Amino acid sequence: MLPKLENCSVAIIGLGYVGLPLALEIGLKTTSLLTQKKLKRFVFGYDINEKRIEELEKGFDRNKIFSKEQIKKVKNIKFVNDNNLIRNVDIFIITVPTPINTKNEPNLSYIEKASKMVGELIKDNQERLISPIIIFESTVYPGLTEEFCIPIIEKQSNNKYNSNDYKNSFYCGYSPERINPGDTKHNVDSITKVTSGCNKKVAKWIDSFYGSFISGGTFQASSIKVAEAAKIIENTQRDINIALINELTILFNKLNINTYEVLNAASTKWNFHKYMPGLVGGHCIGVDPYYLTFKAKEIGHETKLIAAGRNINDYMHKYFFDQILFHKGKREIDILNEEVLLLGLSYKSNCGDIRNSQLINLVNSFKDIKMNITIVDPKVDAEEVLKNTGLLSLPCIPSKQKYTIIILALYHDEFKVFTKNKLLKFSLEGTLIFDLTNNLYGKDIINL
Ligand SMILES: NC(=O)c1ccc[n+]([C@@H]2O[C@H](COP(=O)([O-])OP(=O)(O)OC[C@H]3O[C@@H](n4cnc5c(N)ncnc54)[C@H](O)[C@@H]3O)[C@@H](O)[C@H]2O)c1
Repeated sequence: MLPKLENCSVAIIGLGYVGLPLALEIGLKTTSLLTQKKLKRFVFGYDINEKRIEELEKGFDRNKIFSKEQIKKVKNIKFVNDNNLIRNVDIFIITVPTPINTKNEPNLSYIEKASKMVGELIKDNQERLISPIIIFESTVYPGLTEEFCIPIIEKQSNNKYNSNDYKNSFYCGYSPERINPGDTKHNVDSITKVTSGCNKKVAKWIDSFYGSFISGGTFQASSIKVAEAAKIIENTQRDINIALINELTILFNKLNINTYEVLNAASTKWNFHKYMPGLVGGHCIGVDPYYLTFKAKEIGHETKLIAAGRNINDYMHKYFFDQILFHKGKREIDILNEEVLLLGLSYKSNCGDIRNSQLINLVNSFKDIKMNITIVDPKVDAEEVLKNTGLLSLPCIPSKQKYTIIILALYHDEFKVFTKNKLLKFSLEGTLIFDLTNNLYGKDIINL
């Protein structure tokens, strides 16, 4: 039997940027948006990281997305670190990381471990009447769920996948997440959810499950592979579009043309898509295309455009660094000891996530040439930054301090007070002010 839609228990495996919002949203909704029936669901939020669970139990979200009140408001949720407590749930939703390794190839160790764990958990439930449904939300290449994860679960559990016999079997689905950290408008509740399942009945069940609590509605894809591919091309398309604008920015700088002015002019055409130049970091846009190129390579197909886009975007931190050194070289005033101020370290504005931040590469370039650099970013967790990068970061600019190079790298809400005049207060004669965000203008500002 499939689980009861209104009355099922759900375990979210991995409570990060994707898992926690999902867990809270499922717990929050008590009436089905589709049928108006009462929902009596119970949610377990499971994470391998004990500290994360301790913090969430106290209502603290280190990702700074949810307040204590928002977490505590959800009553039918339990945060757990002991996987024995989720052994009997009906639905497992896997939201663990799918990063890349140093060779830019998929690092499947997290999803492998989570699949093994779920396999182990359902192993002892062979006599139960309800077959568990395992839904993957982690971003993967097309085919990964059924070619990589399912065999692991089958082997570990000794249960049959997608069998007509409900006993000793389990089902599976894939429903990609599309949240955009730092964006309060597009969230779990408002974004249309793509769903899929291993057979028609399960696909419908999964679609109705998400439809019951997501106001943005659902789109049922025709297969798990289609849903996996849809997710990966959304981010690949974005990566390539940004890469094109980055390439044009490099060209226009050489031609002494302001890219932003060109974009403003071109976007008056009805079908021109306005993408902005900049650094592409984080764990989605800068990572997902590598999953696709990996899969393509595996079947002997070369993806030229996707790889080219990745190369351009991965090069941009070096380009910005070279540009800063170029302008420094042109400066007429001699400065013996450069003091660099970097405003922003996370991978994008209004987000505290530092994973794959290209600004960390920029900082390392300054360190390589032994330049002093002060990093200011109120969004990041300074402890996390130190632990992961060995870098110190401050929440605000030390008063009375002066710098010879100032870089406005992100436009966090807290940085919106930094007008040109405000930044000039931290400047000396000859200080160069660079803006990577296109928010400052004037003759003292160098827009890169
Ligand atoms: N962050 C985003 O904006 C975003 C958007 C869409 C899709 N995704 C995808 O969603 C997935 C998760 O991303 P994230 O940003 O939430 O990652 P994250 O690093 O923020 O969170 C992952 C969580 O999983 C936990 N974890 C790791 N292994 C585990 C295991 N075996 N069992 C239980 N918990 C485990 C970690 O401790 C961590 O708390 C990735 O595949 C990512 O590509 C992320």
